[in-house]
Formats: sequence, structure tokens, C-alpha cells
Amino acid sequence: MKFTFVKKGENAKFDYEVRLVEGNKIEDLEDKELLELAGFDKGSVTDILSSRRLYVSVKNFEAETLRLAMAKALAALKGHDVKTVMISADEELCEKRIAALAEGVELSSYKFDKYKSEKKEEKLEEVLVSTGGNGGEAFDRALEEGRLLADATNYVRDIVNEMPQIYTPAKMAEDAEALAKEYDSVTCEVFGKEYLKKENMNAFLAVNQSSPNEPKLIHLTYKPSGEAKGKIAYVGKGLTYDSGGLSLKTGGGMLHMKSDKGGASAALGIIKAAASIGLPFEIHSVLGCTENMIGADAYKPDDILKSREGVTIEVNNTDAEGRLVLSDCLSWTQDYVKPDYMIDMATLTGACIAGLGDYTTGVMGNNFDLQLKFKRYAEKSGELLSVLEFNDYLGKLIESDIADVRNSVPGGSGGAITAGMFLDKFVKDEYKDKWLHLDIAGPAFTTSAYGNNPVGATGAAVRSNIYFMKALAEEK
Ligand code: BES
Ligand code: ZN
Ligand code: ZN
Repeated sequence: MKFTFVKKGENAKFDYEVRLVEGNKIEDLEDKELLELAGFDKGSVTDILSSRRLYVSVKNFEAETLRLAMAKALAALKGHDVKTVMISADEELCEKRIAALAEGVELSSYKFDKYKSEKKEEKLEEVLVSTGGNGGEAFDRALEEGRLLADATNYVRDIVNEMPQIYTPAKMAEDAEALAKEYDSVTCEVFGKEYLKKENMNAFLAVNQSSPNEPKLIHLTYKPSGEAKGKIAYVGKGLTYDSGGLSLKTGGGMLHMKSDKGGASAALGIIKAAASIGLPFEIHSVLGCTENMIGADAYKPDDILKSREGVTIEVNNTDAEGRLVLSDCLSWTQDYVKPDYMIDMATLTGACIAGLGDYTTGVMGNNFDLQLKFKRYAEKSGELLSVLEFNDYLGKLIESDIADVRNSVPGGSGGAITAGMFLDKFVKDEYKDKWLHLDIAGPAFTTSAYGNNPVGATGAAVRSNIYFMKALAEEK
């Protein structure tokens, strides 16, 4: 989509106008009478075909309100034969809000239709924006940045939506290498099974054991052109399919487990977004990619694994596999990347969905101030986040009689937190305060459209982390 800012009074040609109206303030509008006739009120979306205008009532002009207003506008314009739309408001908007308009449009126009024989042709090609304020280059840049952020999110949606038969760890490695080709600021290393063996990443390897597809440890690095304000490492759970292993999931539980690569995919998207907008941090993404399958050679409940950190793990459920892959990847990242912040992202537990609902990321770690700061900065993206706190009573539940830790709590409650506390066993003392764990099991994928998310993958954790880093950069 092409976005252009149009200064007030400047002439522009367009097929349709989307007018943002605060509440029910229609007194000064050209279509006042028709809007009254249609019962326009707070929250209304009213299409006045005769004047080629769509009126969208907004409760305020905050960034997330604007993103959601764009979702409503595009839904209302569906089927209209319009190529160019003008989005207008009398309100003076700052750059951040202008960017949100582009984000909202680009996110809401996403569709995954590559397997549809008949594709619905996208008619809308260009969006003009005209709001109060003098515009200028800064507004064009803001529109471009919003578009790029949404584009990186849509890129992640494409990856997560791709079927497991095609999207294997090797395919993820290919995509990572393509990113390094596309951006000069990005480099990529891919490691296979032999390397994992050499590195004693036995927990990761155990999960892969019965898969015909080789596991991949993928390491992407983005370096900014100027001096970096710090080094941030993302560690992503890349289960290209999670059948549960021998602790097999039910048919229903297995459905949509192509989305178990949501964390690693977000880590790819963060690199793409950072490189395209030029964030001032050195960013590393470490992706642990494998399938979790069944077979005679599968790892078993009762197995005891010696992880890369040397911590021994009693496997009591092969479906709690994400934490096994992550434990070795966290260990590797601390030793080789040595970041200032280490943030893992994973579709880790059904318990997090049960606790927080389908829409919210669970933010965990040992540094409460960092958790709160992350929530405050990241939620500017519109993504929802909730801080979940560790405690020693729940910590006791992952103790094992025969190993250093066990990978699940049979019938246990507090499953999102016990999973987070399991990961904490692999975080060295000097990284305790630098680490965050994001459980994105709920928001990574949706079976019904909401907000700017169509059905399927949402690209959760891309924009929240970019907003976090942008606010962090402004802080220093
Ligand atoms: N990938 C799942 C978690 C999940 C469930 C993500 C539903 C998205 C939607 C994870 O590997 C898993 O199976 N976790 C188990 C852990 C349990 C065995 C301790 C779970 O949540 O049931
Ligand atoms: Zn699982
Ligand atoms: Zn999983």
C-alpha cells in the first residue's frame, strides 16, 4: 500500500473519504443531515454513498484507537470499488499517531489466500492522510515507519500461517538467510544437528529425536549504522509442529500447532522491522527450530536429559517441549551473545491462555521493574500484556525426585508461571535481572478476527518489542 500525507488545503484526487469524527460531533460536517437521518452516534460507522464518505466515530485520537478505526473503516469499505482513499480528521495529530494510521491500514488489509483457488482482488492501492498539523517530511516518514512495522508483522503472519508440511526448520533457516541477503545490516548463521551435539544441547536434540526434519539453531544479528545503544537478544521457540510427542495431544489440541513457531517467527520479524526502520540497538535473534513428533525413536516421558547448562531434566511430559528447546537456546545465547537484555518469546503454555485469555501476553522474569517497564513501553503497540509473578511455592512444584528439575507439573495449576520458573533454572545469576520471558500462546494465533487481526496468525510480539526498544532508545 502506498501512503502519502496531504497538507490541509492542498489538492488531492481520491475515490472515497474516511472521515474520523470525535464522538458524535457532527454539527460542522457537510453530511450532517444525512448522518442525523442515519442515527450517527458515538461508536458509529456510517457510509454516505451519495457523498462518497465513510464516517467513523472515535472516542479519542490515541494511537490504538486510530489503528482500530482503520480496521473498522476497511471492513466497511470492503466491496467498494475504490483505489484511493483519503483519511481525514480535523484533529492535529503527532507523528506517532500518523504512524498508527498506516499501521492500522496495513495490518487490517492482510490476508492469507495463497491456497485459495479464487483470490479476491485487492482494490485499494493508495491511502492519503490529511489531518491537522503542517505535515511535511516528518509525517511522510511516520507513515513509512508505520507501514514498515505492519509489513514486518504481516511477514511473520505469512510464516506462522504456512502449513507444517512446508514450513520445516530448514525452511525457517532459508527465510532467515534471505533476510540477511535483503538487508546489509543483517547477518545470519545456521547450525544443524552435529553442531547441537557438539554444544551438548541435549534437551533441544531430544525434542527433535523422532522428526525426519533436521533441527536448526538460527542466529541472526542486526547491527545499526551508528553506535549501538545496547545489545538485545531475542530467543524464539520455533516448533514448526507440536504434536505433543508421545504425550500426544488430542486431535483438537493439535489443530493449529503450526503456530507453535510463533516465537521464533516474531524473532525474525523483529530483525526485519529493526533493519527496515533502523533501530539504534544491536539485536540478536536466536531461533530454536524443530518439530515435536512421535515414533519409535521419540524421546519418552521418564527420560532424563542433561541440558547444555548441565542442569538435569526429568521429562514427565513430552508435550512440555518448548521449555526444553528454550533452555538450551537461553544457555547458548548467554555464552555467545552476552546481551544487555535477553527476551524469550514462546507459545509456551495453554495455562497462559487459561489465565489471561486469548489476547494477552504473559510477561515473566525476575526483575519486576523491567517487567513493568516492558509492559508500559510495549503496550503502546496496542498489544495486550500482563505481568505474572514467580513465587517459591510454585517453584517447588517443578522439583524432581531424581533430577535437578522436571519439565512439567502433573495436573498442576499455575502452569504459565511454573513454565517460566523452569526457564529461570537456565538463566545464570548475572542475567537474572536482564531476562524476560514472554508467553504468547494466546495472542500468537486466533480462530476469530479481532482488532487489526484477521483469522490465523497475528504476528504478536513483533510490534510490542519494537515499541519497547523505541521507547528504550528515547529514554537514554
Ligand atoms: N505449544 C504448547 C502450548 C500451546 C497450547 C500453545 C495451546 C498454543 C495453544 C506447549 O508445547 C504445550 O503443549 N504445553 C503444555 C504444557 C504441559 C504439558 C505442562 C500445555 O500447555 O498443556
Ligand atoms: Zn507441547
Ligand atoms: Zn509447544
